Amino acid sequence: MQTDILVIGSGIAGLTYALNIAQEMPNKNITILTKTQSDETNTKYAQGGIAGVINFNEDSFAKHIEDTLIAGDGLCNPHVVEIVVKEGVDRINELIALGASFDKDPNGNYKLGKEGGHSENRILHHKDVTGKEMERTLLEAIKKRSNINLISHCFVLDIITQHHFGYLVTKSTPDIECYGVYVLNLATNKIEKITANITLLATGGNGQVYRSTTNPAIATGDGVAMVYRAKGRIENIEFIQFHPTALYEAGVRGHSFLITEAVRGDGGILRNAKGEAFMEKYDARKDLAPRDIVARAIDNEMKINGTEFVYLDCTHMNQKKFEEHFPNIYAKCLSIGVDVAKNMIPVSPAAHYSCGGVKTDEYARTSIKNLYAAGECASTGLHGANRLASNSLLEAMVFAHRAFLDTINSLNAPNPSLVFKESFPNWNAAGTTAPKEMILITQSLKELKLLMSDYVGIVRNNERLKRASRRIDLLHEETEALYHRTEVSPQLCELRNMITVSYLIIKSAELRKESRGLHYNTDYLSKQVILQNTIL
Ligand code: FAD
Ligand code: SIN
Repeated sequence: MQTDILVIGSGIAGLTYALNIAQEMPNKNITILTKTQSDETNTKYAQGGIAGVINFNEDSFAKHIEDTLIAGDGLCNPHVVEIVVKEGVDRINELIALGASFDKDPNGNYKLGKEGGHSENRILHHKDVTGKEMERTLLEAIKKRSNINLISHCFVLDIITQHHFGYLVTKSTPDIECYGVYVLNLATNKIEKITANITLLATGGNGQVYRSTTNPAIATGDGVAMVYRAKGRIENIEFIQFHPTALYEAGVRGHSFLITEAVRGDGGILRNAKGEAFMEKYDARKDLAPRDIVARAIDNEMKINGTEFVYLDCTHMNQKKFEEHFPNIYAKCLSIGVDVAKNMIPVSPAAHYSCGGVKTDEYARTSIKNLYAAGECASTGLHGANRLASNSLLEAMVFAHRAFLDTINSLNAPNPSLVFKESFPNWNAAGTTAPKEMILITQSLKELKLLMSDYVGIVRNNERLKRASRRIDLLHEETEALYHRTEVSPQLCELRNMITVSYLIIKSAELRKESRGLHYNTDYLSKQVILQNTIL
């Protein structure tokens, strides 16, 4: 299969990019691939909303920029922060023009929510299901475009570069190029190759490497692992954001239900097992301190009291307003016997967001030619050491749009790399046989999640990282051996990708000899004077 533009991922980043290209270049074919159903994305689960400076009476670009820089703890790229904050408003308005609905008050003004680290109310939201509304809007717009072909249940295995033509490609090879991808078509169970002039990687996050995460099962870091295998640059991947308040349900791991930070923005108070409001002990901003601080405070309270959760108390809040703003959370809590008017909600931190990823420049270009990256899989320089709440949907739209602007220019220029097109090698499956037992995959996955949660979680130290490093090496060795003798499956490939991403998180964490933002290492409780990104 040949396509002009290939998009891997059908979340906010992939869909925004595809739609822009389709509108601007109706004569170009765009193919979007997604590994499960088209709407099964992190985007669909976004709750709190999207940050944007809408109310210029109270708010300003300068304030949003300042809040983002403070949360990022010295590692944000200030130029990128300014780009996202300023251009983000236009991207939000474009989405509204497409039909996305954000909540308004009776006077027709947007109801703007507040979350941790924001100095003003600036979060646009659609009740507590903002991401679902944004995903719906974009998917409906995509369906109307005849030059977009969205193919679900297609698992991308690897990006094709010179390496697949037999050339030696290393980290220092100049001009590594992307020619397309190898894909496992889950409808036919065949491996196909898709060639493309331009590829956008929009594969989302990697929360699934941890035992407890707000991310759905698709979030296995495939894009980052593919780029690393292709010798592209990865940056800042040690900064994993744990959301302070995932719903605690005994026995439920893997995909935890989120209790949006907007609940604390509306007045929710964190209390420990003794019923004490504890956040004032940790930060003057109390329950609305940035996420790294709140998550560490909860972790500490759970350790002090020997509990697996703390409480989010909403019993004092106006219940009618609660049900209006958070109908999904209200219903979910009730379904497990928690009536938020009477009972406190049990919550605990869960892996939520990857601040680092595939290193890009300000037009979403990666270190690999003809390959862009946008959304959660990318590291643009916006988030630094800790993402400000509700900035990621914004970043994804801004960078998908910037990738689109750059794509128009590059498509107009001659692309000599496509001389390879005629002779693309097929996927090499020589020597592999059908998998004999799934236990080899499922048990390794359990071990991986455990070691990442216990040794590379909210609080780290050198000894734990060393242990994690030794164990990941063993898992890597065993899984590579399995991969080379077994026919590929999504389960095996996801495990392999998660091991790669975990290795990168551990390595980057070991290289960062300080505590900064989300990376908290008790062996280095101070920050270094010299700031630098960890690039692998
Ligand atoms: P995703 O939306 O995750 O899409 C990834 C796509 O890539 C999927 O289509 C997937 O199938 C595809 N894919 C992955 N690997 C492969 C492969 N190998 N082959 C083929 N396809 C592949 N951010 C905010 O700004 N505000 C919020 O309120 C907010 N709330 C959140 C709540 C929750 C519960 C979660 C989990 C996240 C939240 N976030 C929020 C973060 C935000 O939702 C995500 O960062 C963002 O949606 C990521 O979008 P994306 O387009 O990069 O990736
Ligand atoms: C939330 O609603 O609390 C999540 C917001 C985010 O991750 O930005």
